[in-house]
Amino acid sequence: MSGSGSAVVELVGAGYAYEDGPAVLSGVDFAVPEGRSLALLGRNGSGKTTLLRLLSGGLRCASGRLRVAGEDVTYDRKGLTRLRTTVQLVVQDPDDQLFAASVGQDVSFGPMNLGLPEAEVRARVREALEALDITALEDRPTHLLSYGQRKRAAIAGAVAMRPRVLILDEPTAGLDPHGQERLLEVLDRLRGSGTTVLMATHDVDLALRWADDAAVLTPGGLRTGPVDRVLADDALLDAARLRQPWAMAVARLLRSRGLLEPDEAGPRTPEELDAWAAVAREV
Ligand SMILES: Nc1ncnc2c1ncn2[C@@H]1O[C@H](COP(=O)(O)OP(=O)(O)O)[C@@H](O)[C@H]1O
Ligand SMILES: [Mg+2]
Repeated sequence: MSGSGSAVVELVGAGYAYEDGPAVLSGVDFAVPEGRSLALLGRNGSGKTTLLRLLSGGLRCASGRLRVAGEDVTYDRKGLTRLRTTVQLVVQDPDDQLFAASVGQDVSFGPMNLGLPEAEVRARVREALEALDITALEDRPTHLLSYGQRKRAAIAGAVAMRPRVLILDEPTAGLDPHGQERLLEVLDRLRGSGTTVLMATHDVDLALRWADDAAVLTPGGLRTGPVDRVLADDALLDAARLRQPWAMAVARLLRSRGLLEPDEAGPRTPEELDAWAAVAREV
């Protein structure tokens, strides 16, 4: 079907306005290429959540189209099942997603709804709980979990559907630094096992460190490209009202002092800066 790099899911000329509201998005072209990690960036209110809901079928485009593996999505039962087994959205607030009494029940809901045999449902629940490192929480009531645990349980529910594209709306919001690191490790493992991951965030440092590609929402439209190129574009960041990533500022400083060649990539994390500095000191 689709090789690495071709779009698994794609919005073509998509537009959307909430009832009685102005257009939130118009004429948006946005493709999620298989196997890439993608960060969707924009300030609050720029339309990130709306775009993710259009991509996952929770909202229907007012204009334009949603395509899965090159075919227009039909919003009937069959089309929506096909979409749900391809794309899964984890909403920002886990309390909007979790509803069953226990973690295990919650995670099993999606696969059960697909009508899968019980053994298959059980296998998927086990796999998803393991992927999120919450096997020990299976029988726990969801309302007794910490925020970070509820977040993991919500993601496990999406993972149990074995989607080709996992979409996360501001997954690190509300997590402490340790929780953020653990979540990024989980996402790295999922991506290692072949899942395409798209996350919405307004954290430019996180995007630069984590993503292959970035898509930036501005009032003028959506701009997509390799993350280090997109986030080096000052005019674009200004238009999106995002700040410059910390690592970009460092790389610029190093270049201006002649410590980095003009086309040489700079360190992206404090650890990379440390490694770079250790080598630079020896030279
Ligand atoms: N359910 C809704 N009804 C009406 N307007 C909405 C609704 N959800 C979002 N909006 C409006 O749509 C715009 C984009 O919101 P959203 O997609 O949530 O942006 P972001 O996720 O980037 O913060 C905002 O102006 C917001 O107020
Ligand atoms: Mg949002």
